Amino acid sequence: MKVLIVGSGGREHALAWKCAQSPKVEQIFCAPGNAGISQIAQAVPLKADQYEELADFAKENGIDLTIIGMDDPLVGGIVDVFEQKGLRVFGPRKNAAILEGSKAFSKDLMRRYNIPTAAYEVFTDLEAAKHYLEGLDKFPVVLKASGLALGKGVLICEDLESALKGADDIMGKKQFGSAGDEMVVEEFLTGREVSVLTFVDGTHIREMSSAQDYKRAGDGDTGLNTGGMGNISPSPFYSSEIQKFCQEKIFQPTVDAMKAEGREFKGVIFFGLILTQDGPKVLEYNCRFGDPEAQVVLPRMENDIIDVMEACIDGRLDEIELKFRPQTCVCLVLASDGYPASYEKGKEIHGLEAFRELEDAFCFHAGTALKDGKIVTNGGRVLGITALGKDIAEARKKAYEAADLVQFSGKYYRHDIAHFAGEE
Ligand code: AMP
Ligand code: GLY
Repeated sequence: MKVLIVGSGGREHALAWKCAQSPKVEQIFCAPGNAGISQIAQAVPLKADQYEELADFAKENGIDLTIIGMDDPLVGGIVDVFEQKGLRVFGPRKNAAILEGSKAFSKDLMRRYNIPTAAYEVFTDLEAAKHYLEGLDKFPVVLKASGLALGKGVLICEDLESALKGADDIMGKKQFGSAGDEMVVEEFLTGREVSVLTFVDGTHIREMSSAQDYKRAGDGDTGLNTGGMGNISPSPFYSSEIQKFCQEKIFQPTVDAMKAEGREFKGVIFFGLILTQDGPKVLEYNCRFGDPEAQVVLPRMENDIIDVMEACIDGRLDEIELKFRPQTCVCLVLASDGYPASYEKGKEIHGLEAFRELEDAFCFHAGTALKDGKIVTNGGRVLGITALGKDIAEARKKAYEAADLVQFSGKYYRHDIAHFAGEE
């Protein structure tokens, strides 16, 4: 069969790499892709927001399955466009992708269906939000632009003054654009964060392995929030007791709630959880694989991903048992110095050929491009260096060793990915 993947990040490279292992797959296309993806997939010069053109491409080229990697097109309704043209596509329709597309929606859903999450209020009016903040006696408080904001629309405010300024930035100045038309004000929670990716077929849910993200740019969780600077799977903090609680109180109830609302969810739900003293709570839902979570979860998955995705589309996920290798997988993101703020592009990347010799270390491309026959940097997050090991220490050591093989001007990475200061 022919598969089309929509997106251009490390997540989409990991998806293409995993699809390429399926004996069912003859050819992979990726729109728009990047320099690494184009080594295993044919690049299609269409952007992720060209829904009609992408669907026409799929129709004209006999694509059997399209996989949407990114959140923006899912929230924008690309799946509906494909379905209207009679095409098979993996991902939620627009009315279900709202689970990520509107934090106001997802918070209200959790409240209505008793799914544990932080206490909150939603505001559409700046003055009303400020008035509410002035009445609070507990800080920090968390402000969230309700819409999509590249993972950056969340502000943790230590006092009233910064909260009032934050509200002004989100709702008044529209720092995150129309994502700030609505704002969620949320109780600040403390605890370990865990990501759990799941496959969902509208009714049934199957958990992939857990993962742990490193969101901040700097060592020791300092600096700005990013899309993710590293990841580890499984999370050493996701115990079987916590898992059981999440399955009973969070995962299946979310799928049931969406179905009850007439918003049947098919695709991947990524649960962003925080393990508080009062138990696990949902910080956020995403309607797609995480990036870099996909890069640490997919190398551990034993199943043929095509079988699983087809079962999701056809509503027979109950027939599938997911299997994961017992090894630990660590991904270290090599970024352009300055990310997530400003950074330079177009720097030549050296040393990539060394990965051909390695069996349990991979180099997933994110912001890379081909220029005059050379692979150059083309984004903030450039490469995801991913390694498998028998335990955390081995996987971490291999990932850091492999990261040394690659050189480019302005190469920046965190030094503490998968370091748990003796807690592992
Ligand atoms: P979100 O996009 O909602 O996951 O938020 C991004 C990051 O902000 C999360 O990964 C947390 O580190 C932090 N965060 C979000 N909500 C809260 C909260 N209620 N309490 C504490 N930290 C939060
Ligand atoms: N790494 C977090 C995300 O993909 O949203």
